Amino acid sequence: MKRAKTSKAWMKEHVNDFFVQQARKEGYRSRAAYKLIEIARRDHLLGPGMTVVDLGAAPGGWSQVAAEKLGGKGRVIALDLLEMAPLAGVTFIRGDFGEAHVLAELKKELGKYPPGLVISDMSPNISGIGVSDQARSMYLAELALEFSMEQLNSGGNFLVKVFQGSGFEGFLGAMRAGFGRVVTRKPEASRGRSSEIYLLGLGKRG
Ligand SMILES: C[S@@+](CC[C@H](N)C(=O)[O-])C[C@H]1O[C@@H](n2cnc3c(N)ncnc32)[C@H](O)[C@@H]1O
Repeated sequence: MKRAKTSKAWMKEHVNDFFVQQARKEGYRSRAAYKLIEIARRDHLLGPGMTVVDLGAAPGGWSQVAAEKLGGKGRVIALDLLEMAPLAGVTFIRGDFGEAHVLAELKKELGKYPPGLVISDMSPNISGIGVSDQARSMYLAELALEFSMEQLNSGGNFLVKVFQGSGFEGFLGAMRAGFGRVVTRKPEASRGRSSEIYLLGLGKRG
């Protein structure tokens, strides 16, 4: 009973949400698109000619933003567990980023051209068990960091969603070891009550 009430309240809040309405008006697939728009604008992350890898891409808001900013020059390679409707300028790989054969497919798609930017908005299905949700989300962030350290251009950038909690400080330390500068970003479209935060590693060390 309580649960039904809560999801009704969530739905009401979601439908009335400014960014949900804006996304509908402007043709973005998710309100999350506005998070990347704000961060990319502030930190000059996207521009024509780049290769961008978008991890946890479905339904495709971030990929839309990246493809728009590339303006037909460059490549966006998007990956998700879930299916994603096709987008112009975006190559999509469906699979679990934690599986070796999916990672191999992504590396094959990249070929000899390393990405200049990796963005990861991956988050696990929330079970409601805080400790295990936090652990699973940190694990995804760690996988994305490992991939970035291996694949990014020297000087490349990495944007990743993390949740503040257990494992956060250690992860931040690993980011600092890998990048010249690490900043935190909490874009307006990220709900204030959510512990999600974005870490941006700028200038991968050579
Ligand atoms: C918050 S959504 C991403 C929203 C997206 N950035 C957008 O703008 O539309 C998180 C995504 O992470 C994906 N995900 C979670 N675990 C994953 C994994 N192991 N491999 C690939 N994708 C994963 C989920 O399927 C989900 O679509």
